[in-house]
Amino acid sequence: MSDESRPSPAADAAGTAAGARTAAVIPAAGRGVRLGPGAPKALRTLGGTPMLVHAVRAMAASRLVSLVVVVAPPDGATEVKALIDAHALPERTDVLVVPGGESRQESVRLGLDALPPEYDTVLVHDAARPLVPVDTVDTVVEAVRGRAPAVVPALPLADTVKEVGPPAAPGGVEPVVATPERARLRAVQTPQGFEREVLVRAHATVTENVTDDASMVEQLGLPVVAVPGHEEAFKVTRPLDLVLAEAVLARRRLNDGF
Ligand code: CTP
Ligand code: MG
Repeated sequence: MSDESRPSPAADAAGTAAGARTAAVIPAAGRGVRLGPGAPKALRTLGGTPMLVHAVRAMAASRLVSLVVVVAPPDGATEVKALIDAHALPERTDVLVVPGGESRQESVRLGLDALPPEYDTVLVHDAARPLVPVDTVDTVVEAVRGRAPAVVPALPLADTVKEVGPPAAPGGVEPVVATPERARLRAVQTPQGFEREVLVRAHATVTENVTDDASMVEQLGLPVVAVPGHEEAFKVTRPLDLVLAEAVLARRRLNDGF
C-alpha cells in the first residue's frame, strides 16, 4: 500500500474523541508565477494527477481529518469541484470548494469562513506541498489536540542563512549584515495545525502580509510549537521542484511494487 493511501495508525483512538473534529483548508488559488507559464500551479500534474488532488488525498489519508476545504482560483471553483469529483477519495472525507482571493492570507481566510461550526481543529495545507506523508499530518493534529494552540512541522536547514541589506547602488551587490546561528533555525512546512478559534482570531486581527499562518498566531502573543517535518513535504515552487516531485512519486511506485 502506498504512503498516500495507508490509513493513519493513530486514527481510532483520537479520531473518535468527543468534540475533536479536524478540517483541512487547502489554499490552492495561486498562479504559480515562479513555476513559469502554464496552468495555475495547483492544477499542474504530477504522475498524471493534478497537484491539488495529491494534496487533498494527502489530507484525506489521515483518519483524523473528516473535511477538506479547497480554496480554488477565484474563477476556477467549478472546474476544481469537477476535478475533485472525478478522483477517488476515502468515503469518510467531505470536500468543499470555495473561491480564493488575491493573497494566500485572503484565500485561507475565505476557507476558514466556509468551515461548519463543529470543527474545532484546523489544518492549513499548501496545495503546493502535494507529497506530505500522512504521518506528518497525524503528528500535527495530535500535537494540537494535546493542547498546543498552533503547531508547525519544521526541519533543520542544510544551508547557512545570511541576512542582507539593500545594495549601495541599484543593481549592486548586497551587503551581508548578519548570520543567524544555523542550529537554531528551522524551515517551516505545512500542514500547520491550529485551534480553530485561535486561527480565526489571528486572521481577524493581523492585517499585514505574512508568509505563513503560524506567524499571525505569534503576533497574538500565543505559543507556537514545532514538530518534526518531512523532506517529502517540500513546496513545489520552481521548475526543478517538479523534477524532484516526479522522482519521489517514482520511488513510491517502486517501493509499492515490492
Ligand atoms: N495561494 C492561494 N491564494 C493566493 C496565492 C497563493 O491560495 N492568492 C496558495 C497557492 O495556491 C499555494 C500556497 O498558497 O498552494 C502557497 O503559495 P505559493 O507556493 O507561493 O504558490 P503561488 O502563489 O501559486 O506561487 P507563486 O508565488 O510562484 O506565484
Ligand atoms: Mg505565492
